[in-house]
Amino acid sequence: MIIVGASGDLTKRKLIPGLFDLARKGMLPSRFAVLGVSRTDMDDDAFREHLLEGMNRFGQIGKSEKDLWNGFSRQLFYHAADPSDHSSYQALSETITAIRKRGQIGPHLLWYLSTPPRLYEPIVELLGASGMNRSSEADGWVRIIIEKPFGYDLESAKELNRKVLSVFDEEQVYRIDHYLGKETVQNILVFRFANGIFEPVWNRNYVDHVQITAAETVGVENRGPYYDGAGALRDMVQNHMLQLLALTAMEPPVLFDARQVRDEKQKVFEAIRPIPSGAVALRTVRGQYAAGTVGGKEARGYLDEKEIPEGSTTETFVALKLTIDNWRWAGVPFYIRSGKRLPKRVTEIAIQFKRTPHRLFLDIPVERLGNNTIVIRIQPDEGISLRFGTKVPGATMKTRPVTMDFRYGASFGGRLADAYTRLIHDCMLGDPTLYARGDSVNAAWSLITPVQDAWKENETPVFPYESGTWGPEAADEMLDRDNRKWRRP
Ligand code: BG6
Repeated sequence: MIIVGASGDLTKRKLIPGLFDLARKGMLPSRFAVLGVSRTDMDDDAFREHLLEGMNRFGQIGKSEKDLWNGFSRQLFYHAADPSDHSSYQALSETITAIRKRGQIGPHLLWYLSTPPRLYEPIVELLGASGMNRSSEADGWVRIIIEKPFGYDLESAKELNRKVLSVFDEEQVYRIDHYLGKETVQNILVFRFANGIFEPVWNRNYVDHVQITAAETVGVENRGPYYDGAGALRDMVQNHMLQLLALTAMEPPVLFDARQVRDEKQKVFEAIRPIPSGAVALRTVRGQYAAGTVGGKEARGYLDEKEIPEGSTTETFVALKLTIDNWRWAGVPFYIRSGKRLPKRVTEIAIQFKRTPHRLFLDIPVERLGNNTIVIRIQPDEGISLRFGTKVPGATMKTRPVTMDFRYGASFGGRLADAYTRLIHDCMLGDPTLYARGDSVNAAWSLITPVQDAWKENETPVFPYESGTWGPEAADEMLDRDNRKWRRP
């Protein structure tokens, strides 16, 4: 596995811990090596040291796992080179051949692109020009995992797809969206399609609306330059949140395989009605965090964060109202929101059901009865709950909403594997079910790009919101207009 951009944070935080977890579970091939490639000057030992420091910092090596790490780290190598320079590839190829000759790897090559996204195209081109897009070994495969963001808007995503597919076949390309590797996200399909009782009510006849929330307490941290060029819509909605929506809304596939699952998701993307530019002000809200308090700690405003340009209008909060024009979901709004510096870290999908057709308990105020809701908690406190009204014990007819709760922790114990562990392993096995296909990436951009364009024209203001609150009031007003309320998870 050749990680291009290996000195970056992702390698240390996610990729190496993910691979080490596979080693721990005995799921790595017997002949396996990682070759890190970056411009930073380091040798193998310094690279291993750098990764070990990250593993220790994030508490990834258990007390009894020192030997396991020592063995694993002998499979980690480093090659300093500029991956956007064509003259780097000859030496890189020689390094790979040397590792192979020592019998440390088999015939396959897995490229992992984790560089700044502007380098994706030149690197892919150079991989093609140097012949490293095909295996030099009989029976060998070459695959490539490409980190997000895949493109910047519809045009650039199409262009990147064109470039990638001029060098690799679609079967070789794995566009990663780490949300798809989360256990709870995979469980959406099991919950819906392996149980008989939910699917019959999972449609416009019973569902009033759906809310998908991805709230974070963190700010932009050290990622100012990237984030300021992206914003919440590109960073979270175009990929993770639309993937969650597609899994929630898709039809059951005929088979659980990559093509069928991704075909059904693609149909959802195509059925989402693009927000017309005239409606952007009504169906989207963007916000930017100002100073405030999160989790008892003072937090500075976005404009005071490191490396954020003065007067930036990048959104750190976004709320959207989407509709899906198909038989199952006609008339059911999907409200989506995501933001940084909100009061709580929580990602959830809430299916809000309609009220009973006839109000039997006339003395009970409607708002006390509440709606039946199924909440799929993606993280933290992973699980699923079902909310319903129940009678409060006593002589009078009073009701209160209660929940039936499934918690992963209580039922299965232990920690859930990180998404990267699962996804890298799937790629090694050649299973792209949990990766985004090129057409769906383009389809997601074609929904997002008109909103970006309308925002650029300044049709909607960027509302400031105090850090530690649930975003700007305008987001509440958007739901008020539909006589609905955001959940407070
Ligand atoms: C990343 C975004 O893709 O997802 C980050 O770039 C965000 O801005 C992160 O913080 C959230 O991922 P998770 O797994 O912590 O919910």
